Amino acid sequence: MAAGKGTRMKSRLPKVLHRLAGRALLQHVVDTASGLDARRVVVITGHGAAEVEAGVARRAGGELQFVRQEPQLGTGHAVQQAVPALPDDGIVVVLSGDVPLTQADTLRELIAACGGDKLALLTIAFDDPTGYGRIVRDAGGSVQAIVEQKDATDAQRQIKEIYSGIMAVPAARLKPWLARLDNKNAQGEYYLTDVVKFAVAQGVPVVAHQISDALQVAGINSPVQLAELERAHQQRVARRLMEQGVRLADPARFDVRGELSCAQDVEIDINCVFAGRVELGEGVKVGAHCVIANARIAAGAVIHPYTHIEGGASEKDRVEVGAGALIGPYARLRPGAKLSDEVHIGNFVEIKASTLAQGAKANHLAYIGDSIVGERVNYGAGSITANYDGANKHTTVIEADVHIGSNCVLIAPVTIGAGGTVGGGSTITKDTPPGVLTVARAKQVSLSSWQRPQKKK
Ligand code: UD1
Ligand code: MG
Repeated sequence: MAAGKGTRMKSRLPKVLHRLAGRALLQHVVDTASGLDARRVVVITGHGAAEVEAGVARRAGGELQFVRQEPQLGTGHAVQQAVPALPDDGIVVVLSGDVPLTQADTLRELIAACGGDKLALLTIAFDDPTGYGRIVRDAGGSVQAIVEQKDATDAQRQIKEIYSGIMAVPAARLKPWLARLDNKNAQGEYYLTDVVKFAVAQGVPVVAHQISDALQVAGINSPVQLAELERAHQQRVARRLMEQGVRLADPARFDVRGELSCAQDVEIDINCVFAGRVELGEGVKVGAHCVIANARIAAGAVIHPYTHIEGGASEKDRVEVGAGALIGPYARLRPGAKLSDEVHIGNFVEIKASTLAQGAKANHLAYIGDSIVGERVNYGAGSITANYDGANKHTTVIEADVHIGSNCVLIAPVTIGAGGTVGGGSTITKDTPPGVLTVARAKQVSLSSWQRPQKKK
């Protein structure tokens, strides 16, 4: 269900498209459903339907289907819209697009509790159950009904066990119940939760699968709740990594917005953000305030503070940092930067779509783009590859053992021959021969006849 408005977010963006851990809330739910090998994932949209439908994708195999609910007359009415999309022989798991952190294992347990013929409700006990539907049981403990806060008697409001909004139910049972829902209640809505009454009346067993992990059923209604759930989730991710041996300077200042995998003895200083798929090899150290996306960083590499590594998701665009490399502080590695072992990249150096072979160094204020850089090359301060002619990108080849002086411009396409040296301040437009010094700048002259202008009296 993802048709609701999310008024309390006070945002133009539909609520379910707000992001937690770098993914839309609804995407979390769709991914979890996909993880159950669901035959079909049906998303019920309404408020901002077109935007929501464009903003979510099914990544694993199978079908992602959208049905629209207009207007939005309640959760029961929402699920009614999905009826044509639900095969009669299936089990329907109802999820909310704004409850992102339910685990697939929990849903598997819920489906097992349903057992193909029962109505299974995911429930939890809250000290403060205000606002939630209460699980009403009879003297023998059997579930009799879910009563919404606004419809509950004072006695019912004392009940701590609440309905999470998640249920598993055979489609063949659900469909006739949905057809019988009415909106005669305090909110004038078609409540999905009324199906419990129908089940009880028909003698269909209703089972409550009660969990204790509140994060799994936490819904987002406001920016405050979104930030709280984000932090709770990140603390959990941090704890899991620390339990594997990763040393985090401060788990409260650490964010993973994708997948981070770490080998032994990884150290991460404060305020780092990891996005996409990031792999850190053994003994990798990441300094404070680094942002690292889609990168593979090999054993022993050190990423100094304030480094920005922004790889892309594809193999080609992923950033590679070789073993023992030293990167930063203040370095920027862009998509397709492939650095071999022992490469050194210093402050204010930008690398894009280039390979740097073992031991190459660019330590200060430089740009290397669309380039192939050989072993042990030393690339001077302030030098750049001019890779773009205004229409097309061209390749710069810098062969092994070349020294590029400071403040050079290498105008691509161009090849600097192995072992050659380019004098500081040169603008190189033609290939240079190997092993020699190439200088391309105006000759220095000193004029003894020149006189400095004097101020007029
Ligand atoms: C619902 C449950 C309540 C439960 C609570 C858990 C009902 C009647 N009540 O209440 O028992 O404790 O969730 O959070 O089901 N939605 C639609 N179309 C609609 C209405 C809602 O798609 O017409 C979607 C919303 O976008 C949201 C979900 O359904 O994702 C739940 O709706 P919400 O209005 O939050 O239900 P609650 O009143 O919180
Ligand atoms: Mg709600």
